[in-house]
Amino acid sequence: MFKGKINKILYGGDYNPEQWPREVWDEDMRLFKLAGVDIATVNVFSWALNQPDEETYCFDWLDDVMDMLHRNSVWACLATGTAAHPAWMAKRYPDVLLVDFEGRKRKFGRRHNSCPNSPTYRQYSTRMASKLAERYKNHPALLLWHVNNEYGLRCYCDNCEQAFRVWLKRRYGSLDALNAAWNTRFWGHTFYDWDEIVLPSLLSEHLSARDVDQTAFQGISLDYDRFMSDSLLGTYLDEYHAIKTIIPDAVVTTNLQSNGAYKPLDYFKWAPHLDIAALDCYPTNDMPMSVVAMRHDLMRGLKNGDSYLLMEQSPSQLNWKPYNALKRPGVMRLWSYQAIARGADSVMFFQMRRSAGAFEKFHGAVIDHAGHEHTRVFRECAELGGELQELGGKLLGARVEAGVALLFDWENWWALEHSSGPSAGLKYLSEMQSYYDAFYGQNIQVDLVGTDADLSRYGLVIAPVLYMVKPGVADKLKRYTEGGGIFVTTFFSGIVGESDLVAAGGYPGELRELLGLWVEEIDALFPEQHNRIVMKEPLGSLGGDYACGLLCDLLHPEGAEVLAEYGEEFYRGMPVLTRNRYGQGEAWYVASSPDASFLRDLAGSLCAMRGIKPLLEAAEGIEVSRRVKDGRAFLFILNHNHAAGAVDLGPLEQTELLSGTTMNGTVTLQPKDVLILEGPAL
Ligand code: GLA
Ligand code: ZN
Repeated sequence: MFKGKINKILYGGDYNPEQWPREVWDEDMRLFKLAGVDIATVNVFSWALNQPDEETYCFDWLDDVMDMLHRNSVWACLATGTAAHPAWMAKRYPDVLLVDFEGRKRKFGRRHNSCPNSPTYRQYSTRMASKLAERYKNHPALLLWHVNNEYGLRCYCDNCEQAFRVWLKRRYGSLDALNAAWNTRFWGHTFYDWDEIVLPSLLSEHLSARDVDQTAFQGISLDYDRFMSDSLLGTYLDEYHAIKTIIPDAVVTTNLQSNGAYKPLDYFKWAPHLDIAALDCYPTNDMPMSVVAMRHDLMRGLKNGDSYLLMEQSPSQLNWKPYNALKRPGVMRLWSYQAIARGADSVMFFQMRRSAGAFEKFHGAVIDHAGHEHTRVFRECAELGGELQELGGKLLGARVEAGVALLFDWENWWALEHSSGPSAGLKYLSEMQSYYDAFYGQNIQVDLVGTDADLSRYGLVIAPVLYMVKPGVADKLKRYTEGGGIFVTTFFSGIVGESDLVAAGGYPGELRELLGLWVEEIDALFPEQHNRIVMKEPLGSLGGDYACGLLCDLLHPEGAEVLAEYGEEFYRGMPVLTRNRYGQGEAWYVASSPDASFLRDLAGSLCAMRGIKPLLEAAEGIEVSRRVKDGRAFLFILNHNHAAGAVDLGPLEQTELLSGTTMNGTVTLQPKDVLILEGPAL
């Protein structure tokens, strides 16, 4: 990836020296050295500084920064700086300004503020990327490109409307095809001219300013989601190609937001264009660690298990939450190793030095307003920096090997949550998380994969609420199961195709034969209401009674074996858990949203059937993950608890990399402590 330039986990982060006088830069370099920093992301928000007017470009300050970084053995992650346009551009070319969901033309301000279909923006952002590539193509500090910053906005301007029509023409070819796909005879929406189509916003199809998902016409809103994700990808690709034209072997990426599970952008569609995936990770202290773990696993899944960069995290507090707690002692280190444990090859912060003014002046930083190294946060950062130097390159590129895959699909997510009925309580991420937690809690490694992934390497493939079955997916799942795989899906699956049109002939549509059942009705439960899953016979660790809720399918087996029945309501005695033998494999159906104990037992039973074993038995709150490289395994044990905890490592002597000692048998982990054990990959 980095042509042998890198021999350790990269360590550093966003650095904005342009906000400070030169004397401070020297001090920064001294502090970087103390902290073991070897990479700085620069130029992220410097467009206005670099281009004072239409024709003038001046990069003198950036030249100095790049040279200074090189002199101090710090790599540059060079940003193109196009995530906030200059004020003069907005004044002169208002087409760069967004129109929001409510139809208001915005004025200059904030950041992430440029219309992706603005001709001005496209031209100037591409030109900026070219200028930077031309200028720094041979610079010895240059390691990596950071295009824009946290893509993600929605625009409803006239240029976007025009571009949407062009996008639709390309997708559908004819208005007849579009009218059919959107089912426009409903509520008299038949279109006779492309120009009649307007963007779905609060002024047209959408119902609520607070809940942007609520739409009267799913087809158009879903296509707008796809279109906006593609539009932003288009602006990324402009810059990507501009850089690659000048530096063909440049490593180019952009930082992905919302801990990697950012709804508006289909990151699986973006991933092929990222040379390495890069995650911005901002958990809060009250977030269950499995939530963060799942997002790391999704990041790793974007590029088929390749390692990724932890591009941003806070060394301590955030500023953009209502209440911004400090990261407690040891937590920054612990969460950094969590990222490494799950596939990250860097630990990077936002930000290196806390800014003096504006929105982020109270956001955590390696160097605080005090300006020196005598702070708790700096000490913790420097200790971690030292450890990463000691660790060296052993872990770089090491892979996580999982036997279980969770199928994750952005288009399914969009479509599912645009749906009006059957339940507003149905949230894709939370169903996904429940299944994930069942494995995480038992230290069983899981991959999150897209619908294009090769499934054959997994013993178990789970697709929670696979509401939308895109073309080819049902056949793929059938082949996987026929070939001996175990496939699990749930209620509200196989309902629609890629245009959100319900497949006639009974749910679960294209999955009906595979699952050996059909669903006649779907009951929606109130939030406090539950039904029961009653096992007919114990099966593995499944046995007795469990609670379920949210939605309950009323289904009829067509060949599937009934393993459990509902315990309540007029549909008591109807199947809630079924298994269909299909070829060499099995297709399971979970007809409601079960409680955690059911999912734990289901996960345990299915893994036992497949011979997939927990990495280690450990108490709750002790996370275990494993990376493997060149026949060596690196087992990470992370104690998220406030109390010490013991784990049994077994008889084999292994080296613990952070302390350099060998261990086996029962060892005690202090609160927030980490072990990395190296041994043979058996
Ligand atoms: C995002 C941005 C950064 C910074 C941080 C603050 O991740 O990319 O520029 O604003 O949030 O948490
Ligand atoms: Zn626009």
